[in-house]
Parts: sequence; C-alpha cells; structure tokens
Amino acid sequence: MATIVRGEGPKSAKIVFVGECPGSTEIKLGRPFVGRAGKFLDKQLKIHKINRKKVYITNVVKITCDGAPSPQMVRKHLPILRKELSQLRKAKIIVLLGKTAARNVPLINNATYIELPHPSAAMRFTKMRKKFEAGMKQLIKLI
Ligand code: URA
Repeated sequence: MATIVRGEGPKSAKIVFVGECPGSTEIKLGRPFVGRAGKFLDKQLKIHKINRKKVYITNVVKITCDGAPSPQMVRKHLPILRKELSQLRKAKIIVLLGKTAARNVPLINNATYIELPHPSAAMRFTKMRKKFEAGMKQLIKLI
C-alpha cells in the first residue's frame, strides 16, 4: 500500500496529464489512474493512438481525497507536482483533467495547456464525455 502516489512516465514525455488525487485502487497499487477513471483514460488514449507508456500521468494531490481536495491539501502537495514538472524538460502539452488541475497546476514556459473534464465526470455524463473527446481531438492536433 502506497502512502503517496507520485507521477508515472518517462522524463522525456512531451504530454503530461494531471488529475486531482488518487483513489483507493491507485493507493493500493501505488500508481496514478489505474482505477475506473484510469480505465476510461486508457481507453481514450488508445482511441487516439497515444501510448500511455510515453506520456507522464500525475495528480495535483498525491494522497486520496474525499471529494475535491481542500486548498490546504493542494498547497501542501503542490511542491511535489512542481518538482515533477521541473524534471519534465520536454513537456510541451499539459492536459488538465478537471477543475482541481485547471485551477492549480503551475504554468511552465512554452507549454500549451488543455483543459478537459475529469475522466470520472466524462465516464458518467454524456455532455462531459463529448467535451472530453473534443479535447482529445484538440490534443491530437497539437502533437
Ligand atoms: N485516479 C487518479 O489517479 N486521479 C484522479 O484524479 C482520479 C482517479
């Protein structure tokens, strides 16, 4: 059982996905986006021919949270995300998965940011899924 779930992916990744916080499956396996939302994300990556092994996937908050994380929790965990992003020297597209990421992910030079609904919302609501898919198409055009 992991206490915190760090980002996963090569340091040479050009695309970075940032979610909110790991769920219980992620905590159990010590990897981001491997639960139900992760399966949805995997499917979307596959549809759009993006290899998960070539992208970096992480979260704003590294421990599990019940609902949206508090500003204090975000503040406490942001240094880890900052460090992760600083190591991704080739990152050129940052995909913000949901509002927590959209509001808190730090800006890095010369990167393009795309805001998508969170996969958990996209899984549940047709409107959000359509928005998610439109965002993925936008992402593909930038690669
Ligand atoms: N799993 C994650 O790793 N992050 C989320 O935001 C949701 C599920």
